[in-house]
Amino acid sequence: MPLPKRTIAASFLPDRYRYYYSLSKLAMDPLYEAVPGAFDEDAEPLLDLGCGIGLLLHCLRASGRKVPYVGVDTDAAKIAAARVASTRGGHDNADFQVCDLSEQFPKHQGSVALLDVLQYLPHQAQGTLLSQAAQCVSKRGQLVIRTGLADGTWRSAMTRATDRFGHLVGWMKTSFKAQPSAQELRATLHRHGLHAEFKPLWGRTPFNNWLVLARRPAQG
Ligand SMILES: C[S@@+](CC[C@H](N)C(=O)[O-])C[C@H]1O[C@@H](n2cnc3c(N)ncnc32)[C@H](O)[C@@H]1O
Repeated sequence: MPLPKRTIAASFLPDRYRYYYSLSKLAMDPLYEAVPGAFDEDAEPLLDLGCGIGLLLHCLRASGRKVPYVGVDTDAAKIAAARVASTRGGHDNADFQVCDLSEQFPKHQGSVALLDVLQYLPHQAQGTLLSQAAQCVSKRGQLVIRTGLADGTWRSAMTRATDRFGHLVGWMKTSFKAQPSAQELRATLHRHGLHAEFKPLWGRTPFNNWLVLARRPAQG
């Protein structure tokens, strides 16, 4: 079933900027249709790292996923907007906290989402954050990552340029730092016992966006 885009965006009213931002993101970015489908209906509690205004929560609930949800982000204004919209959307079992992931990491066991966040951290901090996220993944949980990848393609260059532009014009408070490579991601996840599957997720956009689904292999 398609996402109720206007209903979700309306949770951000009367802030018209966030209304149109949400509507256009939900309409153009394949991320929000793809990620809820990655979770079972009885999935593990979810920690959404760098949750922004919490669009993922609305998409999960609209897709029938009632998992306990905690979203964290360093941007206090986005967290405030996320809380208000979550209440307006009538969503239970959801919490939002301000947290700078380069300084602290919330305690969690279950599943983790890390959507379009890695590029705002320096290379070494990306590895640290990935390791912390991987350690939270329970036996039945999973780590869902969306990221651009450094692979020398024109899409990769376009993604970097757009992330830099987004900071210059003020869409993003944090500036672009680095793109990880698929090899680095796979190796870090493997070190923490996770098997990762990579799928392209650029839809009709020109970006080099990939969805990475990482799980603990079933014990034979
Ligand atoms: C492109 S947005 C993605 C938002 C959300 N994950 C989504 O896909 O709708 C990136 C988010 O990462 C957050 N972020 C960047 N650096 C962070 C840090 N050090 N700690 C926590 N959040 C961070 C930003 O504030 C921003 O909300």
